Amino acid sequence: MKRRTLHDQYFRRAKREGYLARSAYKLLEIQEKKRLIRPGDRVLDLGCAPGSWLQVAAELVGPRGAVVGVDLTPVRPGLAPTVTAIEADAFALSPADLPGGSPFDVLLSDMAPATAGDLSDHYRSMDLCHRVLDLAGDVLRPGGNLAMKALEGAAYRELLGRAGGLFRDCRGYRPRATRDASTEIYVVGRGFRVGG
Ligand SMILES: C[S@@+](CC[C@H](N)C(=O)[O-])C[C@H]1O[C@@H](n2cnc3c(N)ncnc32)[C@H](O)[C@@H]1O
Repeated sequence: MKRRTLHDQYFRRAKREGYLARSAYKLLEIQEKKRLIRPGDRVLDLGCAPGSWLQVAAELVGPRGAVVGVDLTPVRPGLAPTVTAIEADAFALSPADLPGGSPFDVLLSDMAPATAGDLSDHYRSMDLCHRVLDLAGDVLRPGGNLAMKALEGAAYRELLGRAGGLFRDCRGYRPRATRDASTEIYVVGRGFRVGG
């Protein structure tokens, strides 16, 4: 009951503080612990709708930075002028299609597969994550940072092992705003090693 109250608090807090979704607090907590995003950075956010991570990233990069979001569905209107959102499949875009081109300083993915409520969710999430890691080689600069949502399960260790080879420092991180019953965890990597 206590955790549930805490989660309701995130929902109410998002409404009060003007964030489009409670997931804003997951990125804010990852940022507080891992310092992934800096003023002036260019950030690419895959699976960005409705747009709360875009809001947080825009605040963190400030007026000299830029945030590009990609989602199959539209984002809410009224985002900061430094944010550009594209309606597309993240894996159908070529890096040259992205506003301002590549590379980016930070790659975010809060993409989730359509869930069936069974084991297949985990494997679809692992497939998504491996595709994000493939994409990192095309869109992330050497030394860049990553935060990527994964659903934990049997193939998670293998994913973390692969990501560990691509980043100087890489760990799984479970924010407090993640719901109790969820298997959600974020793979957070710092210091991208090209060809790692
Ligand atoms: C949990 S929501 C993201 C919430 C977002 N971070 C926020 O804070 O507002 C996951 C999103 O991933 C998107 N998504 C899933 N697969 C995708 C794909 N292949 N390309 C683009 N977006 C995708 C979904 O449309 C959905 O909007």
